[in-house]
Amino acid sequence: MTDKVAIFDTTLRDGEQAAGARLGSRDKLTIARQLSRLNVDVIEAGYPASSPEDFEAVQLIAREIQGPAICALSRAVAGDIEACGKALAKAARPRIHTGIGVSDMHVLHKFRDEKYGVTLGEKKVKILQMAVAAVKLARQLAEDVEFYAEDAGRADPAYLFEMIQAAIDVGATVVNIPDTTGYAMPEQFGALIRSIRERVPNIERAVVSVHCHNDLGLAVANTLAGVHNGARQVEGTINGIGERAGNAALEEVVMALRTRGDYFGLRTGIETREFVRTSRLVSDMLGMAVPPNKAIVGGNAFSHSSGIHVDGFLKNRETYEIMRPEDVGLTESRVVLTARTGRHGLRDRLEKLGYALTKEELDRTYQRFLVVADKKQEVFDEDLIAILHDEIHPVPETYHLDYLHIYSGTSAIPTATVRLHVRGEVREGAAIGDGPVDAVCKAISSVTRTSARLTRYEIRAVTSGTEAMGEVTVQLEDKSRRAMGRGASTDVIEASAKAYIDGLNKLV
Ligand code: KIV
Ligand code: ZN
Repeated sequence: MTDKVAIFDTTLRDGEQAAGARLGSRDKLTIARQLSRLNVDVIEAGYPASSPEDFEAVQLIAREIQGPAICALSRAVAGDIEACGKALAKAARPRIHTGIGVSDMHVLHKFRDEKYGVTLGEKKVKILQMAVAAVKLARQLAEDVEFYAEDAGRADPAYLFEMIQAAIDVGATVVNIPDTTGYAMPEQFGALIRSIRERVPNIERAVVSVHCHNDLGLAVANTLAGVHNGARQVEGTINGIGERAGNAALEEVVMALRTRGDYFGLRTGIETREFVRTSRLVSDMLGMAVPPNKAIVGGNAFSHSSGIHVDGFLKNRETYEIMRPEDVGLTESRVVLTARTGRHGLRDRLEKLGYALTKEELDRTYQRFLVVADKKQEVFDEDLIAILHDEIHPVPETYHLDYLHIYSGTSAIPTATVRLHVRGEVREGAAIGDGPVDAVCKAISSVTRTSARLTRYEIRAVTSGTEAMGEVTVQLEDKSRRAMGRGASTDVIEASAKAYIDGLNKLV
């Protein structure tokens, strides 16, 4: 068996299923470019049948990204599979990922309708037939077809083996064994993969893939147990983002395989020095901060602070470090960006951050950059990313902030006065609130005559120092719709107002 483990990145599909996460097709393409620099083997670009936007994103990535295979997800439904075929038409190496629920829980409850049979046994027969038909159809549209046995971690092993064998018989090239609910324990999951390799007669004709969720914090441990027992593809996301508690964090899986090569004896083709950059790009584009103590890419992952540790570290780095920070991309000679840096320096830095802009986008970003650079001594990467969110990926501006005045203090009632352009009309209003941010949101609601609920508010200083750029991320809900808004400014109240208005524009 090969010692190479293929890396299947599903940040753009399962990662984007994280609550509150939403990416447009341009954002997805930017991340896909960076994943290609990271040298992943497969990019799962989306689920084309889920929405026209996702279809467009998969199509765009399939057309633009060379190198990794481009994969699209479907249920075992003809329409879904055909949508994958169409969206992937221009891909150099297309892969269709299709599958169906295999645990009794999924079989009984997701296929409740009597058209799937009445008893559990009848339903299982029908679902097996659907799986076979799905793989057959997918194989007519792509040579490379991955079959997922959803909720395999809780399935009856005998049925799972039968299903996998049938999928391989009709042409599945990869069989994905997901622990969809993050239920398995590492030893158990490892044993499941081993038994699949021992008990499914045609298993040598396909690659076994593992796809683990993190509900019990075991996604990476289960993934590694799978690989240790013969899986040769791992699925996961950057920063471990994903549905509920997320997916296996790819940076952790890859660095574990690399750092403990003595234990696993396996390798990947990943350019690990791209990890930090990729992590920051994904975090910034989704507005999902990486906790400082996160393994590999967290801000503290290579920081030493206690006296004993620092003393040992200074004597010999390896006393307290099992990986070198430069191997995950943490040290780079840094060009300090200031108002005198110029367009070329700015473009170079943006490219290093993973953003390829058109000339017109670069011009706009440069103008904003100069404004920020005039206010601050140094413009940090995080400042640039905040500017990009404002300038390059804006939504149509139904509402635009023209003027903002805040009255606030230790013994004052916080009051906000705002002037907005609302569909071309200039409107003004004021409100008091429980703090200046509350006052400004209420003033904006009254001027826009909207009633969205603010369900999440996050602020972070994206640079250090008192002149830091503040980035505010909000989540707004209006009836059944939800939108994220983001705003950045050196004035945090202004950043809050911009984020709130950005969210309202997205809801429109
Ligand atoms: O978790 C899961 O089972 C999935 C499948 C669709 C592969 O994401
Ligand atoms: Zn999943």
